[in-house]
Amino acid sequence: MENQVQKKRILSGIQPSGDLTLGSYLGAIRNWAALADEYDCYYMLADMHTITVRQVPADLRRHTLTQVAAYIASGLDPEKNTLFVQSHVPAHAQLGWVLDCYTMFGELSRMTQFKDKSAKNADNINAGLFTYPALMAADILLYQADLVPVGGDQKQHVEICRDIANRFNGIYGDTFKIPAPYIPQVGARVMSLTSPENKMSKSDKDPNGCVYMLEKPEDIMRKFKKAVTDSDACVRFDPAAKPGVSNLMQIYSVSTGKSFAEIEQEFDGRGYGDFKKAVGESVVELLRPIREETERLLADKAYLESVYRAGAEKASRVADRTVAKVYKKVGFLAR
Ligand code: TRP
Repeated sequence: MENQVQKKRILSGIQPSGDLTLGSYLGAIRNWAALADEYDCYYMLADMHTITVRQVPADLRRHTLTQVAAYIASGLDPEKNTLFVQSHVPAHAQLGWVLDCYTMFGELSRMTQFKDKSAKNADNINAGLFTYPALMAADILLYQADLVPVGGDQKQHVEICRDIANRFNGIYGDTFKIPAPYIPQVGARVMSLTSPENKMSKSDKDPNGCVYMLEKPEDIMRKFKKAVTDSDACVRFDPAAKPGVSNLMQIYSVSTGKSFAEIEQEFDGRGYGDFKKAVGESVVELLRPIREETERLLADKAYLESVYRAGAEKASRVADRTVAKVYKKVGFLAR
């Protein structure tokens, strides 16, 4: 063990702002489990980011706990991955403030997510929503992460994190490892079932557009049966001309392991009705064991508590070292 080459470190986070979607499962969580052998992986529940948009406190708590259970049920073994809740590790708030002071108003004003979220929450454009990228930079830099698995919508935030880290290192000398975004080879970008030009999202206005990881089979089936297709009754992969059908093929392909060619052949001459039913069933079967295991874990609160406590302790040990280094560099008097 001792002379083993140091594994590269990965950090990622998902906000517990609602129920996890099929999109986050197929696009992210499902692929994370396979990384544990090669990388030292930290997965955070970004609850501090979640309150940039107003939350119902009891719901936030429930979503956070459910998400811990769903991570484990999806194959993230807590012995091999560090699973933790952001607010359990005070270093995030500590470094977040320092980085606020090394992040420019102009840079933050250009963030696409800020512009989108302020348009959607016009009555609550709070300072946290604006400085969100500096907190996210802290999340990453605290762990000296090499790689940050994110979807396309978060790439800009990883970019600004690199800029902040380079700026800080330029002033004070090497302090932070410069992280890179990590876009996994496998995995899918799952689109809304009702407006397939948009990413599947829990904030979709049409509740039928988004399938949840822990949703009941009959609800999943109903949503797939209503999924938007097109009028040429032919199962063929062509995202530009046939976004709805291509999205369903993508989902079917990841949940069954079948190639697009195999799928086209399987549904050759058959209607969309059969196809949508098959996709729904494959998703139901894929998610069934995860839902059952999540429910079983949620009944064992003591175990879940032991997981997130151990995760917070381990994360804190790493993060506190970075905070100590940073506090010294910026000139804070040692306590
Ligand atoms: N901003 C990310 C999102 O909304 C969540 C997140 C917070 C994150 N901190 C992170 C992702 C650090 C990667 C690394 O999806």
